[in-house]
Amino acid sequence: MKHLLSLESMSTEALRAILDSTAAFKHERGHHSEQPLAGQSWALIFSKSSTRTRVSFEVAVRELGGQPMFLNTNDIQLGRGEPIKDTARVLGRMVHGAIIRTFAQQDVNEFAAYSNIPTVNALTDDEHPCQILTDIFTFEEKRGPIAGKTVTFIGDGACNVPASWIFAAAKLDFRLRLAAPKAYQPSSELLSRAGGNVTCFEDVLEAACGADLLYTDVWVSMGKEAESAERLRLLAGYQVNAKVVRVAAADALVMHCLPAYRGKEIDEETFEANAQTIFDQAENRLHAQKSVLNWLCH
Ligand code: CP
Ligand code: NVA
Repeated sequence: MKHLLSLESMSTEALRAILDSTAAFKHERGHHSEQPLAGQSWALIFSKSSTRTRVSFEVAVRELGGQPMFLNTNDIQLGRGEPIKDTARVLGRMVHGAIIRTFAQQDVNEFAAYSNIPTVNALTDDEHPCQILTDIFTFEEKRGPIAGKTVTFIGDGACNVPASWIFAAAKLDFRLRLAAPKAYQPSSELLSRAGGNVTCFEDVLEAACGADLLYTDVWVSMGKEAESAERLRLLAGYQVNAKVVRVAAADALVMHCLPAYRGKEIDEETFEANAQTIFDQAENRLHAQKSVLNWLCH
């Protein structure tokens, strides 16, 4: 039984297989020769908001022959306290796969352990593996292999998106630099678990110097709203803007996983100057999700 629970738990071979078949799903959109999910129902169980992940997975399941079923946690008994392991054992007898967006990574892991169906992490507090697979595909589509390149993440370096970048760096052999204030840098325990290729900086320009990809994410992740004021204060200097772009490589890409908050983690001008890349990245969520679903079924 295959799952996509985190990038930490994925082998390099599996990551490469998903990345390498994404282009075919993109090019064959509308005329997929195989329907690997034909006759299947897939549950999307979400306890946080989503635009891209929800829509891309719903469309991907449909276009691969299956039926998606969106379940907001508040509408099912899980939201009233039914245990994950009971929900998992019920759904595991009725649907063929599950795509879960929630808070605790342990909840996704537990669902996978009890459900006996392929389970996908569609974002937890710890990781956002489907996003980073898409981002790497998008980089390689525009610039060739990511191995040997330098990726600079600027902003909240301690949330789910940079964590998945950290695990990808060691497995796919690129350099990752994280620019964040001390309070929002990843723990040394996480960095040592990931096994290398990552350097943390407090100075944004030093981190961005010569980078092939500048990347950012929101300063206030879902679930962290109570910390907004403190985060806006401490992260104020950690913005992707023209000053930062100027020190990166001349052909550096600027990416954002979205949603974007202009004037916070990126300024309006830099966002719009890079909108083509950023919305290609968003579109590629659909193609990469198909590749993930196909990998899970084979
Ligand atoms: N990037 C991303 O996961 O977007 P959503 O929260 O809209 O799914
Ligand atoms: N770090 C962000 C990612 C949103 C796609 C969050 O968790 O809210």
